[in-house]
Amino acid sequence: MKVLKANGAEIPALGLGTYALTGSQCVDIVLRALEVGYRHIDTAAFYENEEAIGAALAASDIPREEIFVTTKVWPSEVQEGLFQRSVEASLNRLALDQVDLLLVHWPPQNDHIDEWARLLCDAAKQGQTRHIGVSNFTTGLLDRMVTACDVPLVVNQVENHPYLDQAKIRAACARHGMALMAYCPLQKGKELFEEAVIAGLAEKHSRTPSQIVLRWHLQHDDAGAIPKTATPERLIENISLFDFELSSEEMAQINLLADRNLRICEYDFSPVWDVP
Ligand SMILES: NC(=O)c1ccc[n+]([C@@H]2O[C@H](COP(=O)([O-])OP(=O)(O)OC[C@H]3O[C@@H](n4cnc5c(N)ncnc54)[C@H](OP(=O)(O)O)[C@@H]3O)[C@@H](O)[C@H]2O)c1
Repeated sequence: MKVLKANGAEIPALGLGTYALTGSQCVDIVLRALEVGYRHIDTAAFYENEEAIGAALAASDIPREEIFVTTKVWPSEVQEGLFQRSVEASLNRLALDQVDLLLVHWPPQNDHIDEWARLLCDAAKQGQTRHIGVSNFTTGLLDRMVTACDVPLVVNQVENHPYLDQAKIRAACARHGMALMAYCPLQKGKELFEEAVIAGLAEKHSRTPSQIVLRWHLQHDDAGAIPKTATPERLIENISLFDFELSSEEMAQINLLADRNLRICEYDFSPVWDVP
């Protein structure tokens, strides 16, 4: 397994995304993921599955310290009082004393970056999380947040897949010693898999389109991905990435797909994204 080293954190580069997994299905998938080798689980207060993930962690034989658990605080809660309550509620639902990474899920709808930074850093100082980071932060917001924080940020979790040009945010993360963690890494299993270059490389390497796309993610420096699946067989498929390699020419062919600049997670509360 590739491990990302970012400002003192060691993060398994391939994790399990859990959005839309709930209840016993979530417990079963997370348990199975741990059995087949996943050591990084991504959740959020917003996903309403922290209890199920806590149940899976408790039922697993894998020691807690070998599993990297990320959760997130919803932006409306990033204010004095609400933030602390959100983190405590997440820890209670997960039945953990501490998560490995706590993220601000989206930039809040105000400009109080010093307050966002203080709340996030305090959670680390109080031991509720080993590391802190952000999600959906643009280069400008990231630069300001890094300046405002007195605890290092280790991750910016952003939408990333071959159809999206994230070169600027990738460079900003590198500049700050942070890892870029890709969400929607498979473009949610949509038309990307039928793209000629992806299908062609899958055939050439005797791999699946999902494996080609995930391998592309992991061959970038300081980059990870958290594909979600509710299908047990796909758990193994999506983690079987470490016995083949894409050449630099093949990586370059996939990079050309970024011209499409297709973004899935676009909401009225999204920040003004970096222009490629
Ligand atoms: N920070 C944020 O704002 C944010 C936003 C979105 C997502 N996330 C995180 O990122 C994670 C991943 O993103 P995502 O769930 O939106 O999208 P994704 O991982 O790109 O795609 C998931 C979809 O791909 C399918 N899939 C998975 N493996 C496959 C395979 N080997 N072959 C064919 N199809 C496959 C899944 O189907 P089945 O489940 O049916 O197998 C599911 O429909 C989320 O679960 C969440 O943890 C974070």
